[in-house]
Amino acid sequence: ENDPRLEGIASAIRVVPNFPKPGIMFKDITTLLLDPNAFKNTIDLFVERYSGKGIDAVAGVEARGFIFGPPIALAIGAKFIPLRKPRKLPGEVISEKYILEYGSDCLEMHIGAVQPGEHALVVDDLVATGGTLCAAINLLERAGAQVVECACVIELPELKGRQKLNGKPLYVLIESH
Ligand code: PRP
Repeated sequence: ENDPRLEGIASAIRVVPNFPKPGIMFKDITTLLLDPNAFKNTIDLFVERYSGKGIDAVAGVEARGFIFGPPIALAIGAKFIPLRKPRKLPGEVISEKYILEYGSDCLEMHIGAVQPGEHALVVDDLVATGGTLCAAINLLERAGAQVVECACVIELPELKGRQKLNGKPLYVLIESH
């Protein structure tokens, strides 16, 4: 909570007003990636939390979960599973629809990516309404995995996404109000 590295991480995230539409204050993690020290500290904080905890798989959500998930997976000795938008994965998949503010979207996972009973961590850059993480949890649980926790860099707590995770714990580095 009071780790001195958090301030540098928070200040490396750029806020872009009115993107992608009027009224939205977009949290842009690309500026965090441009700061090697802050980016490394971000990965290290997750690695310190999850090392030696028996996590078999890190599942990252397209697109920005593909940036943070793999370095965490490599450091803790877990496999990385990409959870992708529809029609991107070439093999047999299971799909999970979720509701967006306007319309719906879908995440897919390859069948066989995770084995029943394996312990999985879900990683993304940001949790807003929680719909995306909820779909990710459902995919992993349908495959028989045990979701240990969801981990994000940023939470927008006003949107109460934490309540949509079927009781799964959520760990975030930064709350953005
Ligand atoms: C953003 C973000 C999360 C999701 C969070 O992705 O990276 O994946 O929204 O929103 P939620 O908690 O309300 O579900 P986006 O939909 O912009 O997709 P992209 O990363 O592929 O651009």
